[in-house]
Amino acid sequence: MKPIDPWAGFSQLQECLGDGGVFLVSIDSQGRANPMTIGWALLGTVWRRPVLLVLVRPSRFTHHLIEESREFAVCVPKRGELREALEFCGTRSGRDLDKVAELGLALTPGREGRVPLLAECDVHYECRVVAQTRLVPQGLLSPEIKAHYYAEGDLHTLFFGEIVAAWKA
Ligand SMILES: Cc1cc2nc3c(=O)[nH]c(=O)nc-3n(C[C@H](O)[C@H](O)[C@H](O)COP(=O)(O)O)c2cc1C
Repeated sequence: MKPIDPWAGFSQLQECLGDGGVFLVSIDSQGRANPMTIGWALLGTVWRRPVLLVLVRPSRFTHHLIEESREFAVCVPKRGELREALEFCGTRSGRDLDKVAELGLALTPGREGRVPLLAECDVHYECRVVAQTRLVPQGLLSPEIKAHYYAEGDLHTLFFGEIVAAWKA
């Protein structure tokens, strides 16, 4: 893997988010990886540093893991690849089973953090959580978005991950 500027992965990240998703990888206290599919993320500059913002509902096992470890990785496949794994990781919870083992996914160690990367992916971001906040029902949330996405609550937490390394296979 070679290091890349975080922006060099932008279009691939963006395309995959809108076409099957990408993997948000977190770890438990033993370092075991749990990949979850995400379809939403923002790449940008905040506090003069490159940041990947991910939105995770509190009901996800991933939410608990990121709150504990304060780090995550985002692994982006080549567009159209790993569709079955994306579907699986987007519908099954790491609370119930080991998704990595179940899918036979190959891992490669993170270079800057403790979170391993999915070896079959093409672009990787290693992130350290530098801020977190939660959407609140009484906040200035558009009624349309509230009705469509939050009828049952479970409002997303926004994890701001400073990108400490970005890689391309
Ligand atoms: C295409 C796709 C995109 C998704 N995007 C998100 C997302 O951005 N945030 C979120 O909280 N859940 C999202 N999900 C749902 C989680 O991936 C799903 O609930 C998963 O089973 C959670 O796994 P976990 O319990 O191991 O964390 C998405 C699911 C799919 C299929």
